[in-house]
Amino acid sequence: MEVLSYLVRDTVPNYLKNVPIPRTFKGFLDLSVKDWAHLVSFSAVVGSAGYFAFKPYYDKYRGIQQEHIMNFNIEKSKEKVYDIIDVEDLAEKTNFCRCWRSKRWPYCDGSHNLHNQLTGDNVASIIMERKPRSG
Ligand code: FES
Repeated sequence: MEVLSYLVRDTVPNYLKNVPIPRTFKGFLDLSVKDWAHLVSFSAVVGSAGYFAFKPYYDKYRGIQQEHIMNFNIEKSKEKVYDIIDVEDLAEKTNFCRCWRSKRWPYCDGSHNLHNQLTGDNVASIIMERKPRSG
């Protein structure tokens, strides 16, 4: 505990006091080559420590995000992908994609078969079928 106390209360503050950080931006112009070397190495150590400290959390966050993405390439420039289809324009039977892998979005092109094969998933299209009118 004594070593930790010595580091936190004496060594680190003394080291930080000697880091040549100027009080103004103009002060950077007055730094010597030795000061610049000190400042760059200090920045590299602080930056690396920050990077390695936060990287696991960032990677975990990105992993969680990637895990939940369904749409990998359909109209990615839009905030939301939606389609309006006039019911009158539908054929007798129309397959709409639900797997987000179709190259004919919003219609199913069978891409869900490869997706299911590769992932073990079981998704397929939604089929809209016209019923003959009664009466
Ligand atoms: S291609 Fe997506 S459900 Fe068939």
